[in-house]
Amino acid sequence: MKILHLSFECYPIAKVGGLADVVGALPKYQSKLGTTSSVIMPYYDNAFTKKNKLNEIYKEEVSLDTNIYQYTIYKVDSKKIGFDLFFVHIEGLLDRENVYGYEDDLYRFLSFQLATLNWIKTDAVDFDILHCHDHHTSMVPFFINYCYDYKQLEDTPTILTIHNAQYQGQFSHDLMDLLPSFDFSNVGLLDWYGQINPLATGIKCASRVNTVSPSYMDELKHNANGLEGLLRSEENKCIGILNGIDDVFWNPEKDKMLVKTYKVTNVVSGKKKNKIELCKKYGLDPELPLFGFIGRLVGEKSADLLPEAFKQSIKENQNINIFLLGSGHQHVEEELLGLKEELNGNFNVHIGYDEKLSHEVYAASDFLLMPSRVEPCGLNQMYSLRYGTIPIVRRTGGLKDTVIDIGDDGFGICHDQASVWDICYSINRAIQLYNETNTFRKIQKRIMKIDNSWTKSAQDYLNLYSSINLPQIHND
Ligand code: ADP
Ligand code: GLC
Repeated sequence: MKILHLSFECYPIAKVGGLADVVGALPKYQSKLGTTSSVIMPYYDNAFTKKNKLNEIYKEEVSLDTNIYQYTIYKVDSKKIGFDLFFVHIEGLLDRENVYGYEDDLYRFLSFQLATLNWIKTDAVDFDILHCHDHHTSMVPFFINYCYDYKQLEDTPTILTIHNAQYQGQFSHDLMDLLPSFDFSNVGLLDWYGQINPLATGIKCASRVNTVSPSYMDELKHNANGLEGLLRSEENKCIGILNGIDDVFWNPEKDKMLVKTYKVTNVVSGKKKNKIELCKKYGLDPELPLFGFIGRLVGEKSADLLPEAFKQSIKENQNINIFLLGSGHQHVEEELLGLKEELNGNFNVHIGYDEKLSHEVYAASDFLLMPSRVEPCGLNQMYSLRYGTIPIVRRTGGLKDTVIDIGDDGFGICHDQASVWDICYSINRAIQLYNETNTFRKIQKRIMKIDNSWTKSAQDYLNLYSSINLPQIHND
């Protein structure tokens, strides 16, 4: 089976968040199960494309209304990253430094999808499944089913994976001319509440739709930023498949980014060494329990609650350290930087994106905070488990599916509300656990042995592909 993943992110080439981790890992685990999985993504102007040899394999043009763009498809040999990787290069449009955040993002998303389809159709590269990720690529099922230019691809099954339903890519019907011509009797498939909504269109037209955890799929049927009814009416083709982690790359025993690698048998000394290093660098006391937070500083992650929760916890306890790595809303960043002065010695922060530092924080911390309001899956909690770091999570989405509270014979600390009070309460429970040294160490060892690798979920995706010829899927 030949699978093509279409995505705007893929680790290690371009990463904004977990989407990159998923697209950079899933194809490798699928290939272990006997498929040929490849990824196509935009060519960005970044370190990867500058450093690596790219082979030009196709050249053509793509048009959006009256704009015509020349494009080139490059291939990177699979030996480089574990699967075949293709880039769509459009000079001036796709070859930017960042992945998102440009005024003409709509043009970038559409041109990428159409260039990919033009290549697939004319170059006769034969893929059995087109697997689209998020709204940036979710128009593909509509294009191949209803646009005259792509009719020859209409039998190709499509999967849409929803990593985050908050972002749907809506645009006005006034821009409909950007789309290739299609049978107008199907115009309703484009509309959702008076706008063209790529994510909704993908849900309507894809052969199968999945979210990145079972609980998130359940939640979306009641709260999906306007898509609840649609997900309920399409439920026979929808399923939740839990993300996995790349357990070869995220492995404390082999992690080259750590000052000291470690495994279950030497987790105590290994983590201690990493903690001492991080604390030394950031002016914290390595004798105290260390709480980490890594992530985008946005409402979905409850970032707005963190400054007050940190202040209250540290003022109340005095005997903890907190370290935050992240970037996002400016007012949260500023509040955190202010707090660094106020809580000097107990709190520090690195505003920005830093892959190496993230590994150091997973390894050095005793606990990892994830009080998310919305978490479609979440990978941080799974990385932290692998690194022997106890997750403190709000019971939502994928966090609910991967972390069980210590009170229920589990290994994490869970709370229900996204509130300062709940975060502080959980931190207090964590301190109590930290002081029960034997139990704490037993849990540390236990969590490192949990298998959250992609092996099972990669098979779940194959089962989903195979279900396409069946009338509906079975949500067990
Ligand atoms: P999301 O995709 O919603 O941001 P996930 O938990 O799925 O959340 O994935 C986040 C990924 O991004 C993880 O690999 C995490 O380590 C990484 N990450 C988030 N923020 C940063 C940062 N500031 N520096 C380095 N890595 C980060
Ligand atoms: C999104 C979600 C996150 C998920 C990631 C990968 O960014 O916010 O919860 O883990 O996609 O699927």
